[in-house]
Amino acid sequence: MAKGVDPAKVPYKTLYTGARMPAMGIGTFGSDKYSPEQVSSAVYGAVENGYRLIDCASVYQNEKEIGAVLGHLFEDQVVKREELFITGKVWNDMHGDGEVIASCKQSLTDLGLSYLDLYFVHWPFPNYHAPGCDGNSRNPDSRPFSTEEFMGVWRQCEQLLEEGLVRHIGMSNMTIPKLEAVLTLCKIQPAAIEMELHPGFQQPELFDYVQKHNIVPIGYCPIGSPSRPERDRTSEDVADTQMPEILEIAEAHRIHPAVVCLKWAVQRGQVPIPFSVKEPQYISNLKCITEDPLTDEEMEKIRLADKNCRLVKGQVFLWAGAKGWEDLWDVDGIIAK
Ligand SMILES: NC(=O)c1ccc[n+]([C@@H]2O[C@H](COP(=O)([O-])OP(=O)(O)OC[C@H]3O[C@@H](n4cnc5c(N)ncnc54)[C@H](OP(=O)(O)O)[C@@H]3O)[C@@H](O)[C@H]2O)c1
Repeated sequence: MAKGVDPAKVPYKTLYTGARMPAMGIGTFGSDKYSPEQVSSAVYGAVENGYRLIDCASVYQNEKEIGAVLGHLFEDQVVKREELFITGKVWNDMHGDGEVIASCKQSLTDLGLSYLDLYFVHWPFPNYHAPGCDGNSRNPDSRPFSTEEFMGVWRQCEQLLEEGLVRHIGMSNMTIPKLEAVLTLCKIQPAAIEMELHPGFQQPELFDYVQKHNIVPIGYCPIGSPSRPERDRTSEDVADTQMPEILEIAEAHRIHPAVVCLKWAVQRGQVPIPFSVKEPQYISNLKCITEDPLTDEEMEKIRLADKNCRLVKGQVFLWAGAKGWEDLWDVDGIIAK
């Protein structure tokens, strides 16, 4: 642990069940750029160096490789299963009757685990794209959000929890109107919601809404996803690590702008899950949240720098007749049809 971080020094969040989740995790989406082997060996290194939260998903196509690495970590006595907090996600093509259960069981087999700590509905509709597709790709079967369909998926998540295959369930890529439609129908509440969060896209209303409902916000693309796939890039996108406010704070602390984004995230109260396959990066990402915090003035400066710039617009999930990617996010305050 000479280079890494003592996991006991990493802050944590308490879920509504009383369970603890580390305040930072490692992402595992290789962005169509890094191979399953590169990602899984980074998971080994990350855990060796103090990470205890691992954000997985079946669509990242690397759960088998991560499972093999988890097996080595347990055999090598680097960590015990109960010390890890491992998440999974059901992909959009597995929303039908019984399919959520089957998909979770497949993830458990691939990961070599008997339970997941948290299982997410990755997107709130059954619209999917082929892995590695480009931004113009559309699926003719795509359709708008339906409360009834979503609750069919959620009931299966509740069943997974009742059967002990998962300890908590969560949602991802939600909006306030969609949460308003479904939260009162849940028998088991979401413990966490995964959403895009970084200095250039702070989603203050959704962030506050989630916290008020005792749900932990998990922030994806916390560094502004500089290696994201082409389909998720437009010329208007703001690069968080180039924002003048971030650069200024980085200079004052003599740190990389990426870690300014992560300090801000944890101090604000969300759980960032930065991705990296590079050891110096993933170590400094975890270490930065245990030392040299940002000042209140710096936190306020970043709050005011929000650009409302969504990076993962999700246009590949649009249905025929949708006006544009904004329809996926209910920007008018009502669920787009
Ligand atoms: N729920 C969802 O729908 C959803 C959507 C997207 C992502 N996610 C999850 O969120 C995770 C993180 O998102 P992300 O991977 O898109 O974006 P990200 O974490 O914001 O960006 C990752 C990239 O940032 C760079 N980086 C990392 N640490 C750095 C450091 N210390 N200094 C400089 N550069 C650094 C690396 O670029 P280089 O590789 O070029 O060095 C790395 O590939 C994913 O892996 C996935 O687990 C979930």
